[in-house]
Amino acid sequence: ETDSTFAQRLLRWFDVHGRHDLPWQIERSPYTTWVSEVMLQQTQVSAVIPYFRQFIDRFPDVHALATADEDAVFAHWSGLGYYSRARNLHAAAKLCVELHDGHIPNDPDALLALPGIGRSTAGAILAQAYGLPYPILDGNVRRVLARYLGIEEWPGSAAAQRRLWDFAQNRVAADRTADYTQAQMDLGSMICKPRKPRCAECPLQSDCQALAMERTNRIPVAKPR
Ligand code: ADE
Ligand code: SF4
Repeated sequence: ETDSTFAQRLLRWFDVHGRHDLPWQIERSPYTTWVSEVMLQQTQVSAVIPYFRQFIDRFPDVHALATADEDAVFAHWSGLGYYSRARNLHAAAKLCVELHDGHIPNDPDALLALPGIGRSTAGAILAQAYGLPYPILDGNVRRVLARYLGIEEWPGSAAAQRRLWDFAQNRVAADRTADYTQAQMDLGSMICKPRKPRCAECPLQSDCQALAMERTNRIPVAKPR
């Protein structure tokens, strides 16, 4: 590896090229982070933004969401798709009121116990809302890391998952955890794109294994059928 750390290189790139004006960055709280991360699980940033704004206007905090009618929650989700996300969000808000005094938990086990929150979403909340050093591994980050590490098997396999999560955990930033998290997602969507990654502009190019092997078009490897 080159002199500056993985996190330092990502953060320097992010400071110049990353996204800094997303509504959930400007209005950052555990609640807005949670809502945005659930919306972003299967939906692009540009599509999420108007829904996020309307949702937060109508349900400004955990209590407002927990006490809302399910129909109202669905009405404000309508168009985003994957409605189980809205049902889980509503149920999780009620659990936060019942179990956590209306707060979004700041520890991984309590977060993972809530419906609709998996390991990556839990990490995104802990890092972005609480400044805690937890990793993420959503689809974008998985592609970046699979290429960077040169993983030549389907990244969803148990062995690859273990390698990817271990690497993500080991390289987590101690400070600027929110920016570091966003930097990885931005690099994945803006530079390390599924097709034709822009490696010449990438802060990881000096030691990316897929680039060195000229295999960026083969990695990540497709799921075997
Ligand atoms: N996907 C999941 N979380 C995201 C975020 N905070 N920004 C962009 N894409 C995301
Ligand atoms: Fe992705 Fe290219 Fe950067 Fe490697 S050098 S992480 S393939 S954009």
